[in-house]
Amino acid sequence: MTERRNIILCGFMGCGKSTVGALLAGMTGRKFVDMDSYIEEQAGKTVSAIFSEDGEERFRALEREACRALAEQSGLVIASGGGTLVRRENAETLRKTGVIVLLDAPLGALKKRLAHDTTRPLLQKPNRDAVIEELLTQRLPLYRAAADLAVPAGRAPKTVAREVLRRLGEAPQEAESSR
Ligand code: S3P
Repeated sequence: MTERRNIILCGFMGCGKSTVGALLAGMTGRKFVDMDSYIEEQAGKTVSAIFSEDGEERFRALEREACRALAEQSGLVIASGGGTLVRRENAETLRKTGVIVLLDAPLGALKKRLAHDTTRPLLQKPNRDAVIEELLTQRLPLYRAAADLAVPAGRAPKTVAREVLRRLGEAPQEAESSR
């Protein structure tokens, strides 16, 4: 089989990158990689522990390394972290071997999905809704600049995954298209 471009999902925490990514991997026969899980394996500790014990800068360095390593592979669906594609260097690295797709979920849906989250260090603050709103305002233009295309994501994950494939001009594999 010829080398297949990676599909990199980008977007805010809670936009559905991991769920949609796993579906897309199944639909296209690509391998799914969740970048946060990849970093956790490399570091031997959770993202929360990296933030609290080593600091955010260390996490960002690990994230940069993960982008470099994953960009050397092909045939992947990569769910990036919410801060990954905010950094231009990471976008440039990943774009070399893949297409970057923004999952654009509305603010209300993000607030709802993230309301009870206990795993994301940036959200463990009392004024969570305000943090989400401020971060999203800062980041959305950066996501848009990094992405090759954007897909509305406040919908069922399967609908979003199908729309991503359609926009990429790829057909789902046999078993999937008949479902
Ligand atoms: C982060 C998002 C998280 C994770 C880390 C930092 C961010 O990933 O990488 O907590 O800066 O937005 P998800 O978007 O998968 O939650």
